[in-house]
Amino acid sequence: MHIALQRGSLCRRVNKGEGEMESKSFVQELEASNQIQLAQLGEVTTLVGEGGPPVDIVRLLKIALANEISVSELAAAWMPSTAEWDVKITLAQQAGDEARHFQLVETRLGQLGVSLADFTPPADNPLFAYLRGLQTPIEKIAAGQFTLESLAYKVNESFIQYCEHFGDQETAKLYRTLIQPDEMHHHRLGKMLLEKYATTPETQRLAREAAAKQSPIVQADPFSRNAGEATKTNGTR
Ligand SMILES: [Fe+2]
Ligand SMILES: [Fe+2]
Repeated sequence: MHIALQRGSLCRRVNKGEGEMESKSFVQELEASNQIQLAQLGEVTTLVGEGGPPVDIVRLLKIALANEISVSELAAAWMPSTAEWDVKITLAQQAGDEARHFQLVETRLGQLGVSLADFTPPADNPLFAYLRGLQTPIEKIAAGQFTLESLAYKVNESFIQYCEHFGDQETAKLYRTLIQPDEMHHHRLGKMLLEKYATTPETQRLAREAAAKQSPIVQADPFSRNAGEATKTNGTR
């Protein structure tokens, strides 16, 4: 079940002062900036067309499991330190959605004959350690729902193409029909919350910096230990 957050109730116009930008304009600017960052990350998010042998889809699905449980846990961990009810409920919704993604991927691995009897939840990698350290709601929204979910969507698109290219239509269908709509929903919830809360120069600065700091972490160590397992991919979500 999705929490119905009405765009109209969340958007707030502000009186523009010196250095102050209307929140919607700010979010559009941040979206454009993120798209530039994502384009620069293309090298680590593109799977199809790489030289060499294909990356094992099962191995990528195991990475997906690690990322799904990490994001679910991150959203849940952010809840107690978040006073704003709409942000708190969005985090709760996301934690549940990511847990469902874990179960969907687990089921798919089972269909492929893969047992998860020895699976253990991963420790924080540098990206999740950075995200877990964010304190304010505006930083969590900007870095989490708004930016990380956008990255996840792009990585998943690449993974879908990869699966289709190598004939795994079932996994591609799983991601296209069930997982990707949720990831886009998470990003859009982040966008609506940013439009509500990024209304001052200070909150906009916090949001901009929290989003921007992710890119070098991902570039340096795409989803940490997962990078080594999956060549140039930063793992599916
Ligand atoms: Fe997910
Ligand atoms: Fe998500």
